[in-house]
Amino acid sequence: MRRGAIVRITLIGVAVAILATLVAVLIPWLPDPASKQMGRIEFLYWFATVISIGIFAVVIAVLLYSVFAFRAAPDDDSDGPSIHGNTNLEIAWTVVPAILVIAIGVVSAVVLSQNGQAGTNPMTIKVIGQQFTWRFEYPDSKGLKSNELVMPVDRNITFQLEAVDVIHSFWIPQMGQKQDLVPGLPTHIVVTPTRMGTFTLICTELCGLGHATMRAPVRVVSQQGFDAWIKQQQSGGGSASGAGAGKAVFTSSGCGACHTYAPAGSAGAVGPNLGNLAADAKKAHEDLAAYVKESIVDPNKVIVAGYQPNVMPGNFAQTLSAKQVDALVSFLAAGSK
Ligand code: CUA
Repeated sequence: MRRGAIVRITLIGVAVAILATLVAVLIPWLPDPASKQMGRIEFLYWFATVISIGIFAVVIAVLLYSVFAFRAAPDDDSDGPSIHGNTNLEIAWTVVPAILVIAIGVVSAVVLSQNGQAGTNPMTIKVIGQQFTWRFEYPDSKGLKSNELVMPVDRNITFQLEAVDVIHSFWIPQMGQKQDLVPGLPTHIVVTPTRMGTFTLICTELCGLGHATMRAPVRVVSQQGFDAWIKQQQSGGGSASGAGAGKAVFTSSGCGACHTYAPAGSAGAVGPNLGNLAADAKKAHEDLAAYVKESIVDPNKVIVAGYQPNVMPGNFAQTLSAKQVDALVSFLAAGSK
């Protein structure tokens, strides 16, 4: 091979590598890391990206050089030279990628293993996914329940994941870790938040009509802030009565994820607006309270025009007590008079 050719291929390769590096670095492809685990995942992304840029630059440089240096004249109809392989070249293009792929595999395995370790004294938070809402329980704090995920910064947290109905998936983009919630098969995942702030928990497994709305607010606070939140939740979380009890059931059952209901401040659009219950009951020729109760325990019985059957979970008669259903019915009936 001529020396001039090697110089030219090298120059093209360097130019391509610089361009590809600019695309990789200047565009913010990944969110700002907010967990220890995301830091490792980011390192793995960059490790693979650097290798990819190197391979890409070599391939494009040889390709571009060949297109121009070996192009045939328009009237040249002769066959090209017959080539019988090049053993050294073939060994090189087999061994080099093999080493690189093994390296990526080893680094991935190390990151996966480290990200799965909860370390000493982890805090446990139970996450329950249900069409189309998230619930959180804090077994370390007497089973405190919440619809908002609040966690202390710089603490190893083991999430125990459970699904009530279909497969959902737990993902906070800035924290990297992602894990499916599978009905009947408890799974877990470890997250160590490194930065305070507000984030969003997103369901990343297509789980039904309301999948895109299945999100929950996430707050990472200081340890003091977390302790104060727990105390405040525990003192305020007594058994409320009257409208308060119904509203509490509405919130904890995740009704607002799918339904708009002004008295609860919800704006879901998957199911009918619950401010219209009186009108819907009239259309169904039913008494308001009976209609509301039936719609909760047997949601497929009457489907409001423009909506689909089998979207709302049909198991509220099992997951809620009779008292809770009654409280919910009076809360909903009161808002549509
Ligand atoms: Cu739950 Cu998508």
